[in-house]
Amino acid sequence: MVVSHLLAMLSSFFPEGEDFFVRSVREYRDQVSDPALKKQVAGFIGQEAVHGREHRRFNERLARHGYPTRFVDRSTKRGPSHLARRAPLRHQLAVTAALEHYTATFAEVLLCDERARLSASGLPS
Ligand SMILES: [Fe+2]
Repeated sequence: MVVSHLLAMLSSFFPEGEDFFVRSVREYRDQVSDPALKKQVAGFIGQEAVHGREHRRFNERLARHGYPTRFVDRSTKRGPSHLARRAPLRHQLAVTAALEHYTATFAEVLLCDERARLSASGLPS
């Protein structure tokens, strides 16, 4: 039960993060010449736009159930906008790569580890 609440609130952090990821990759898009990599960059940007939209929809639904997702979303804006103003573009891209690896690892554990899935579902294991 606690894990499902934590995951629900984790979603509140995502829209701003997804937007940051898109901006950081877009800055380098014109420097990519390899056609396969260019296609991956376009796919990544599209994927992150969809993720952001779906997290916003999910967060609005959570807010209607009393989760403070709007507060978290507003508070989260500070981190990416601070980085976007102060950090070099390559640092922003590195942050994007690191966070994408982190969330991919997190997702893999949730999808592949039955104990993690049961824990997130709130069902007794
Ligand atoms: Fe994403």
